[in-house]
Amino acid sequence: MEVIIRDTREEAVSLTAAIIGKALREKPNLTLGLATGRTMESVYELLVRLYEDDGLDFSLARTFNLDEYVGLAPEDPNSYRYYMKKHLFDRVNIDPRNTHLLNGMAEDLYAECKRYESLICECNSIDLQLLGIGRTGHIGFNEPLSAMQSRTRPKMLTEETVAQNAAMFGGPDKMPRRALTMGVGTILECKRCILLVTGEEKAEVLARAVEGPVTSMISASALQLHPNCVVIVDQAAGSKLENQSYYRWIFENEPEWLSYQ
Ligand code: GLP
Repeated sequence: MEVIIRDTREEAVSLTAAIIGKALREKPNLTLGLATGRTMESVYELLVRLYEDDGLDFSLARTFNLDEYVGLAPEDPNSYRYYMKKHLFDRVNIDPRNTHLLNGMAEDLYAECKRYESLICECNSIDLQLLGIGRTGHIGFNEPLSAMQSRTRPKMLTEETVAQNAAMFGGPDKMPRRALTMGVGTILECKRCILLVTGEEKAEVLARAVEGPVTSMISASALQLHPNCVVIVDQAAGSKLENQSYYRWIFENEPEWLSYQ
């Protein structure tokens, strides 16, 4: 795992978008894993800009989203399919047939999860998975006690997550209690992961995920086991990390990152 601390939120987001853009230019048929949430909105904004201004080509790319709420139709404004169309898919030249999300309306949710896992397998796994973190330490919707080897499955959301995302639904009562999510094991099999975290309210959970023990109580800590994972944070989110100067030293000296400076 590598940790990169940028001074501002804008710099953290723009580094994330630059890494994705570079990966897509190097491999036009990239299989990209996508995340949702407020943090990612500005990443998608920058990817749209790269498409419009610099000709970043999505025509051969394939995408898999991490999760979807149970019971929401794709046209529901709170569904993640809707979110992805609004922030990315409808704004770049991606082929809609290459964009994959779990179907939260499926009659048999377990069969739907199995289908998703097989599809990822058929695509020879995900090349680059973008991740955010929830206040409970979740990646995707892998809430505390998600097994390290868990696969895509339905998951009950915690009260904290419901409280965190309820505003978008107009209150906690209107928000689904369950979601379908890639498992921790599924995420660990992606070839490369980027965890993007910004804002002071995530500082505590981020420090536990990065510098604390690997524990199923904080699913993001499983990323310590991933062979190719970079954690990109702004100063606010990184403020509770103990080894900040070490992380800055790596970014300033590691050849891979010099081209981004
Ligand atoms: C949701 C998503 C997560 C995401 C999290 C963070 O819970 N399922 O994948 O990481 O939101 O959201 P935000 O960026 O809004 O804090």
